[in-house]
Amino acid sequence: MTSPQHSEYDLVVVGSGIAGLYAALQAHEAGARVLVVTKGGIGEASTRYAQGGIAAAVGPEDDPADHLKDTIDAGAGLVDEEAARILCYEAAPRIADLVRYGVNFDSDNGAVALGREAAHSRARILHARGDATGLEIELSLSSLAQREIAILEHTFATRILTDSGRVSGVEVFVRAEGGRRVFGTPRVVLATGGAGQMYRTTTNPPVSTGDGVALAYECGAEVMDMEFTQFHPTALVLPGRPVFLISEAVRGEGAQLFNAKGERFMPRYDPDRAELAPRDVVARAALKEMLEAGSDHVLLDVTAYDAEWLAARFPSIYARCLESGLDMAKDRIPVSPAAHYTMGGVRTNTWGETTLRGLFAVGETACTGVHGANRLASNSLLETVVFAHRAVERLLNPPDPTPPPEAPTADALVLDGLGSDGEAPRTEQVKELMWREVGIVRTGEGLRDAAEQLRRWASAVPVPTDREGYELRSIITCARLATEAAVRREESRGAHFRTDHPWPREQWRRHIVFRRPSDGPSATITPESTSTDRESARA
Ligand code: FAD
Ligand code: SIN
Repeated sequence: MTSPQHSEYDLVVVGSGIAGLYAALQAHEAGARVLVVTKGGIGEASTRYAQGGIAAAVGPEDDPADHLKDTIDAGAGLVDEEAARILCYEAAPRIADLVRYGVNFDSDNGAVALGREAAHSRARILHARGDATGLEIELSLSSLAQREIAILEHTFATRILTDSGRVSGVEVFVRAEGGRRVFGTPRVVLATGGAGQMYRTTTNPPVSTGDGVALAYECGAEVMDMEFTQFHPTALVLPGRPVFLISEAVRGEGAQLFNAKGERFMPRYDPDRAELAPRDVVARAALKEMLEAGSDHVLLDVTAYDAEWLAARFPSIYARCLESGLDMAKDRIPVSPAAHYTMGGVRTNTWGETTLRGLFAVGETACTGVHGANRLASNSLLETVVFAHRAVERLLNPPDPTPPPEAPTADALVLDGLGSDGEAPRTEQVKELMWREVGIVRTGEGLRDAAEQLRRWASAVPVPTDREGYELRSIITCARLATEAAVRREESRGAHFRTDHPWPREQWRRHIVFRRPSDGPSATITPESTSTDRESARA
C-alpha cells in the first residue's frame, strides 16, 4: 500500500495557505502537473487570519534598503543578510503577482494605502479589507487554484518517501477513506505553516501543528532555529472564546498600552519606540506588568479615534470587540501575549531547497533565516511569496549539473528517547508544559525539566491512526526540537529569553540545527554565523 506509484505529478504541494497556493499557481502557470494536498478544508490556514498586512517598500518615499535595515535590526543578530536582501528587493514583483491573482489591496485617493507597524521605520504595510488582509489573499488564491489545479482536501501528509537519498513520493492519510495512500513524485513542496499549536495560548488556527517540520525532520532534512517562537503582545484572550489577535496595526495608528494601575508603561521599557518597539520587547514588558499586578491582561487604548473611523480601518477587530461587549471607541481592550509565529523551521537555502534533494519548504514552515531571532511585523506574508517564487523557479529549472546535496552543517549530537512505561500525554498537557517552561520567559532549570518530560512523553506516544494522532506526534516533535535548542542556547536573544542568561552572548550568534541521520535522531549546532550583531542588542 505504501510503495510509490508512478509519478503522476511533477510536484506535490502540501498545504493550502498563501505559500502552498501561490507556489502551486506559479508552477501550474509554468506548465507543471501539480497536486495540492491539504489536511482540512482549502481555506483552513493561518493565512486567512492575517490582519495587519504584507510589508513591501513600494511607497514613494520608501526604499528596499530601509526595509532591509529594519529587518536586520529586528532579527537580533541572526538574520541571514543575503536572504533578507532578496526578501526586501524582490518584494514589488511578488506584490504584483498577488494583484494579478486577484488580491485587491486597499487604496487611498488612488494610491496604495500603507499602514505602520512596530519596528518599521516607515509606513510600508499593504493591507486589504482594512484588517482582513489574509482573508482577501486566501479567498483570491483559493478560488483561482480551485479552478485550475488538482486539490485534495482533508488529505493529511504523513510521511515523505525517499529513494537513494532523494524524494520519491509522499504518503497521505485520507479522511474519507480512513486510510493511507501514496503519491509518487520527485518533488514535494512543504507549505504546512507554523507550530503555534505547541502552546496553550496561541493566535494560530488548529491546523498549525508543525507537521512540515516534523515530516522534514523524520526524513532527515535539517531543521533550524526552533527555539525562536514569536509571542504577539496583544491578543484578546477571553474565557470560552477562541484567542483573537488585536493587530499591531492598531498600535501603528497610535494605540497605547496601560497597566492595571492605569499607567502607560511602554516608554519605561523602550523610551524611543514605546508601543512600537519590537514584539519581543513589548510582549515581555506586558507580561512583567501583568505579573506585578497579579492580572491576566494589560489594556490597549485606542479611544482617541471615533467609532466610525475604527469600524472603517479595523472592521473585523471592531466587530469582534463589540461581540465581546467592548466598544473600541470607548473601552480599553484587555490584551495579553500569545504564541504567534514560528521563526524556526525546515532549513532552506534562498531557493527553497532543503538539505534533502527534491524536498522544498516555503512559508512559515521554512527557515530561510530572514527573521533571525525576531520577525519584523508583516514580513511573513512577504517571505511566503518571495521564496515560493524562487523555489518554483529552481524546481522547474534545476541547475545543470545538479550540485550534490549540501553536507550536514556540523557534528551530530544524539537526542535519545527515555524508555517509558508511562502514559501517553494529552495534547493539552504538552501545550501547557510548553507555555509554562518554554514560553516568553524561560529558565535553564525549567527548560531541562521540560526536555526530560517531553522525552518521556515521546517514548509513550502511540503509533498514529488518525489526524489527531498525527498532530500530537508533530506537536511533540516540534516541542522537543524547540526545547532542546532552548536548553543549548545559553543566552537571551530576540524571542528567546532566559532569566539565567539574560543577555546576548557573542559566542551564541549562531544557529542551532537539528538533523536526524538515518541511524537515529541527532542535533547539530552550526559554526558561528557571520552576521553583524551587537552585544548591546539586549532583550
Ligand atoms: P498557513 O497559511 O498556515 O497554511 C498551512 C497549510 O498547510 C494549511 O492549509 C494547513 O491545513 C496545511 N497543512 C498543515 N499540515 C498539513 C499536513 N500534514 N498535510 C496537509 N496539509 C497540511 N503575517 C504577516 O506577514 N502579516 C500579518 O498581518 C499577519 N497577521 C497574522 C495574524 C494571525 C492571527 C496569524 C495567526 C498569523 C499572522 N501572520 C501575519 C503570519 C502569517 O499569516 C503566516 O505566517 C502565513 O500566513 C503562513 O502562510 P503559510 O502558507 O506558510 O501557512
Ligand atoms: C498583526 O497584524 O499584528 C500581525 C502582523 C504579523 O504577524 O506580521
